Amino acid sequence: MSIKIAPSILSADFARLGEEVRAIDAAGCDYVHIDVMDGHFVPNLTFGPPVIKCIRPHTEKVFDVHLMINPAQPYLQDYADAGADIITVHAEADPHIDRSLQFIRSIGKKAGLSLNPATPETVVEYVLDKLDLILVMSVNPGFGGQSFIESQLEKISRIRRMIGNRPIDLQVDGGVNAKTIKSVVDAGADVLVAGSAVFRGDDYAATIGELRAAAA
Ligand code: DX5
Ligand code: ZN
Repeated sequence: MSIKIAPSILSADFARLGEEVRAIDAAGCDYVHIDVMDGHFVPNLTFGPPVIKCIRPHTEKVFDVHLMINPAQPYLQDYADAGADIITVHAEADPHIDRSLQFIRSIGKKAGLSLNPATPETVVEYVLDKLDLILVMSVNPGFGGQSFIESQLEKISRIRRMIGNRPIDLQVDGGVNAKTIKSVVDAGADVLVAGSAVFRGDDYAATIGELRAAAA
């Protein structure tokens, strides 16, 4: 199974965001993971559609937008207009997941659903055919640089079985680094988000290469 690496620009230098996005593109990333936080659903604030729109011209890579906001529904069109390719909402932040997923696809974008560490995998069961991506949070969302929560490995393998042969990305976000990536991929993940692991060093291509090698 070939894996995709999605560096999270949460750990990038925000003063040089365009340059940072060009650097991870040149370093061979697959997706650009964009963490949107509202200071309400999660205890941290990042940025919204205007910033995403500004970095859009810097790369043609997939913009994988992880919305940690509540409510998300009123803003989905804004994120699509800003240049998102994949829009992921949180199961815990939306009482109408089915409607939001349908809406995201209706505006021509890929639809993702994210699960906090305590959220059971059963939440995806009745919307599997409306999903392009499932995001298992392996830390409590809000900050980069936290430790991987081991209990999520079981959830990842259960979701892998539920996906069957559907064309759904199984993404894992939080605490993924050269030490943890193999267990995550072995459990069934195929899209790996890495924030601090990629941006901590200066040579992004080397780090992305190390992650791919460690996962193999
Ligand atoms: C956390 C974010 C992650 C974060 C991961 O709420 O969703 O994408 O950037 O950071 P690391 O890879 O450092 O755990
Ligand atoms: Zn994220």
